[in-house]
Amino acid sequence: MDLGIKGKMAVVAASSQGLGRACALELARAGCTVVINGRDPGDLEQTAGEIRSETGAKVIPIVADVETAEGQLALIGAVPQVDILVTNNGGPPLRDFRQVDRTALIAGVVGNMIAPIELIQRVIDGMVARRFGRIVNITSGSVKMPLAGLDVSSGARAGLTGFLAGVARSVAHANVTINFLLPGAFETRRLRSSIETAANRSGNNVEAVRASRKEAIPAKRFGDPSEFGAACGFLCSAQAGFITGQNLLIDGGAFPGVM
Ligand SMILES: NC(=O)c1ccc[n+]([C@@H]2O[C@H](COP(=O)([O-])OP(=O)(O)OC[C@H]3O[C@@H](n4cnc5c(N)ncnc54)[C@H](OP(=O)(O)O)[C@@H]3O)[C@@H](O)[C@H]2O)c1
Repeated sequence: MDLGIKGKMAVVAASSQGLGRACALELARAGCTVVINGRDPGDLEQTAGEIRSETGAKVIPIVADVETAEGQLALIGAVPQVDILVTNNGGPPLRDFRQVDRTALIAGVVGNMIAPIELIQRVIDGMVARRFGRIVNITSGSVKMPLAGLDVSSGARAGLTGFLAGVARSVAHANVTINFLLPGAFETRRLRSSIETAANRSGNNVEAVRASRKEAIPAKRFGDPSEFGAACGFLCSAQAGFITGQNLLIDGGAFPGVM
């Protein structure tokens, strides 16, 4: 499917690996110039090379911490205009809510709520003026189905979702959309490390924990990041201009609700 965004300029935060990388790859396949980002220069260069050689797209790697103003300005300033923005970041560590002190609470809110909002504030007026913008926020299935130990993540991301719900309606008239992708369990570094942590804590072996996690998902498997990237590509497409303020759960059926 031609997504109708060839030549557009996309910034994908936190995209040297995992779900962000998958979104960047899909946008590069669609013919966008793509700014990718991470803090580790080696990982970032490697991913930039892989996306370039697979797609032939222009890929601009920016080593930066997306939580800082300098990092955000470097990302946004890497292209003359931002037509597409995918917000993303690492997630807070797994921790019992009783052990989450004020510093950790603030760090979680900065990382998963404030940083995405700041990025959006930096690009949205240009999108409105040009009458095209696609913003996709990578949040988490935990916004709909909280997970014990990831309460900071659930709270900060639900805060982001609520904040942007009104913003989305205020810019829809200008063909600027703001949507949310809610990953369930996807095969990435983050998932592997959370399984290792769970295995260490429970005394079970890693393979047993992996198997039981998969068993709990109706699809009986973890998601492939390319499946996530494809959904992101569609929400950024020209054809998706009438979809805004929506939360798309991609979790193999794990959320048990009707809607
Ligand atoms: N995978 C899942 O199953 C799943 C499920 C629910 C929610 N999520 C959420 O989805 C998001 C992406 O997860 P993932 O699985 O793709 O994680 P991942 O594989 O660990 O990748 C995270 C990416 O973000 C970059 N990054 C982290 N902190 C950054 C920062 N401060 N500034 C710039 N780049 C940063 C990392 O590079 P550097 O480390 O080099 O900076 C890496 O490229 C996370 O917020 C995660 O909590 C994931």
